[in-house]
Amino acid sequence: MDIKVIQTQNSKIDQLDFNNIPFGKVFTDHMLVADYINGEWTNVVIKPFENVSLHPGNAALHYGQSIFEGMKANRTPDGNPILFRADKHLERINASARRMCMPEVPEELFMEGLKKLVYVDREWIPSLEGCSLYIRPFMFATDEFLGVKASDTYKFMILLLPVGRYYTAPVKLKAEDKYVRAVQGGVGEAKTSGNYAASLKPALDAKKQGYDQVMWLDGKEFKYIQEVGTMNIFFVIGDKIITPETDGAILKGITRDSIITILKDKGYNLEIRPVTIQEIVAAGESGELKEVFGTGTAAVVSNVCEISYMDKTIKLDTSKSGISEMLYDTIDGIKKLTIEDKYGWVEVVTAEELDLVAQ
Ligand code: COI
Repeated sequence: MDIKVIQTQNSKIDQLDFNNIPFGKVFTDHMLVADYINGEWTNVVIKPFENVSLHPGNAALHYGQSIFEGMKANRTPDGNPILFRADKHLERINASARRMCMPEVPEELFMEGLKKLVYVDREWIPSLEGCSLYIRPFMFATDEFLGVKASDTYKFMILLLPVGRYYTAPVKLKAEDKYVRAVQGGVGEAKTSGNYAASLKPALDAKKQGYDQVMWLDGKEFKYIQEVGTMNIFFVIGDKIITPETDGAILKGITRDSIITILKDKGYNLEIRPVTIQEIVAAGESGELKEVFGTGTAAVVSNVCEISYMDKTIKLDTSKSGISEMLYDTIDGIKKLTIEDKYGWVEVVTAEELDLVAQ
């Protein structure tokens, strides 16, 4: 695919303090943009980061046809970008697209665009412990029409952000007994913006009560644990590690999938099945609940130090979180290639494979 690159004449990289990178606020010099018009992807370009101009009747603003991914890249010692499971993110954005009546992103647009963009902005990839380049591919409707129907036109874009840790300390969770995130048959499995908008009010209420995140329960019985605001969830009970099985309402996390693979490979006793909040509270009260951790692209593997459900509070001693630490180190090491990538998850992007035409 011929992707034109318009290089910035005005890099902002000198303004970044690589020792102090916040999450989500700093964008690199370039972005990828493509338009879906008349049934095909066109106008594919990598260009200097800039605002997008939208018609006030933009369909995504009114009816929410908007999906996204979150991926990460690190760098080799000589500065080449290392991508982690990009194929899985392509698969998932296209699953989200199908659910939201949006066009799929062709493999060559996603992969070649992504590789070229991360290569162009490779100097922005941080190397400090806990830091990475966060990659945000996303797509939104662009029809200028106020009727409720699937848009005919779309924009696909990729943004890059150097980031530090999403959580800087273990998190306190509130098992939510009033609001729901998603129900079976809904859009919980799609990475669509509305799922995150719907989570804001419960998350704000939980924050006011002293929690960091909401842990969602199923929308029918408020009994089965689904996921946490920004992560999938794992529980270590005795010698077992348990994670909820995806049921159509839970996001199929790519970090979750990677953690499951590592745990199985290392011979842990893993159960992927429905998990009730009552089981977790009982295990907490009996002292059998050893560790709880969340997994996600942004969160990587993050420890949970407290879970509250109605009038019960379970506290966890995160100084004994040996399994989650091992998992963090393993996945982080594979992403940086300091640990052998025996699962074939990473890809190093080199200049040789890219046809970089500076305009
Ligand atoms: C991610 O982990 O990439 C997410 O999308 C979660 C959040 C930052 C929205």
